[in-house]
Amino acid sequence: MENKNLYVISFSPTGTTRKVLKAIADGMNFQQTKQIDLIKKNNIKKQNFTDKDWVMIGVPVYSSRIPETVISRLQNFKANKTNAVVVVVYGNRQFGDALLELKNLVVELGFFPRAAAAFIGLHSFSSNNYPIAVGRPDSEDLQIAYNFGKQVISKQGKHKKIKVPGNFPYKERSKKLIVKPVTDLTLCNQCGLCQEVCPVDAISIYNNRIETNEQLCIYCNACVRVCPQKARIIDDERIIGFAKNLHEKCKQAKSPEIFL
Ligand SMILES: Cc1cc2nc3c(=O)[nH]c(=O)nc-3n(C[C@H](O)[C@H](O)[C@H](O)COP(=O)(O)O)c2cc1C
Ligand code: SF4
Ligand code: SF4
Repeated sequence: MENKNLYVISFSPTGTTRKVLKAIADGMNFQQTKQIDLIKKNNIKKQNFTDKDWVMIGVPVYSSRIPETVISRLQNFKANKTNAVVVVVYGNRQFGDALLELKNLVVELGFFPRAAAAFIGLHSFSSNNYPIAVGRPDSEDLQIAYNFGKQVISKQGKHKKIKVPGNFPYKERSKKLIVKPVTDLTLCNQCGLCQEVCPVDAISIYNNRIETNEQLCIYCNACVRVCPQKARIIDDERIIGFAKNLHEKCKQAKSPEIFL
């Protein structure tokens, strides 16, 4: 294969997007795969890609759009007709305009989108009381992701302009809720893991206390999932209400969709 580098750019607060991207990258089977993580904005370095590179970009769907947080972070990258694979992962409700938005954004950055896909992942709001898309991506999803990666590469030179579902103008962004997980200080041992994974640096730990800035919090749920003490808790009635509603209405398992 002439192309040697695959760059995998991900924003994946609770890890499902990362899992899907890994399976696709395994199927693409490049000699070298480099990971670029968008979670911490200060760790992102500006980078230019060439027309020999392949870049896969994957993000979760937030309210039928791509997370606003990733838009400015992706501006660190410039491409020159670089081959791109764009992927969104959603919690079995719908991906709405997110895939179209991601595709259009990468075109603005100079990429050439060769393939796109929407996969399903455990919903960020899923809980024991209200499970949503538990176990996704499952082994079948990951097999589809792997085969998709293989197909993308086997089509080299025969790629057409891809079409993906979605409407423009995109669905208006939902107003940001002023909300945050709370910490049970009787369980917390100040390990700092929640602070490490927070994509918007909303968490501060000092004097045996954990403060969460609710103006910054995007409710990604990363801190809740990572806490080994189960000390981060969702107690907001609005979020619990969303979860209950999704649990009831999104039971029918959706299938991954690929666009080549
Ligand atoms: C604020 C927010 C909004 C979301 N909106 C949607 C949505 O519109 N449709 C959907 O199916 N899932 C939605 N989800 C669920 C995520 O897309 C899904 O759980 C995804 O797998 C998370 O990716 P990650 O594990 O890489 O963080 C939302 C999650 C969050 C945190
Ligand atoms: S991850 Fe949990 S235990 Fe660790 S500091 Fe955060 S809340 Fe405390
Ligand atoms: S504080 Fe908010 S933004 Fe930060 S990890 Fe927790 S849920 Fe996500």
